[in-house]
Amino acid sequence: MRIKLMAANWKMYKTPDQTRDFFRDFLPLVSGHTRDEIVVCPPFLDLSAALEAAQGSKVAIGAQNVHWKEEGAFTGETSTIMLLAYGVTHVIIGHSERRQYFGETDDTVNLRLKTALEAGLTPICCVGEVLEEREAGSTDDVLRRQCTRAFHAISAKKAARLVIAYEPVWAIGTGKTATPEIAAEAHAVIRNEAGRAFGEDFAEKLRILYGGSVKPDNSSALMAQEEIDGALVGGASLDPKSFAAIVKY
Ligand code: 13P
Repeated sequence: MRIKLMAANWKMYKTPDQTRDFFRDFLPLVSGHTRDEIVVCPPFLDLSAALEAAQGSKVAIGAQNVHWKEEGAFTGETSTIMLLAYGVTHVIIGHSERRQYFGETDDTVNLRLKTALEAGLTPICCVGEVLEEREAGSTDDVLRRQCTRAFHAISAKKAARLVIAYEPVWAIGTGKTATPEIAAEAHAVIRNEAGRAFGEDFAEKLRILYGGSVKPDNSSALMAQEEIDGALVGGASLDPKSFAAIVKY
């Protein structure tokens, strides 16, 4: 049995005050909820407020990106050492918005993933096809390529904490959710690829989240799929009631 991970990706939303307000309202809604793991990934500048607000609760805090060097002349970047010093435990890597707008490649995803795993962070590594790739029938190839490159030169032992998020780009922020069956099929391709890279036992334990227009009203149908081990939620995670409803599907 894989414990589901319900993750919020706030993207570039909320100030520290709004972060505190969120946790004030969200924590009581999930205080008795022990079935799933919960993680909230706010923007870097809100991490401090989030960590303070979530202290003593079961909600973990994650970052939305991390550089692959521990320190250096890399203006605007943040390292694993800095995240760990704060108390951050999770990090999103290779989100499609970073791939689309900020030059993220399969190779830089691999570098970030290696570093995050070595540092003991739990990476949530994002993969997913764009609409043209799905329409061209190349979804499976795209997922295989993204996984193979992301996993390059990482051992099964090192990868133990790895979490994957399948986020079809055409479903992000569009209100178009992949049907539970489409998501489950893609998850099976990813699990198969993880099996080739890290072995069958590893693949069996690997958590694969679904992301893309997850809402309170579709969460339970998605989570009912055996292949789906949690959610990575964007827009609907900004509101405490809505994210709590998704978590408690
Ligand atoms: P939405 O839930 O807003 O579609 O975003 C999904 C996402 O990109 C989570 O990382």
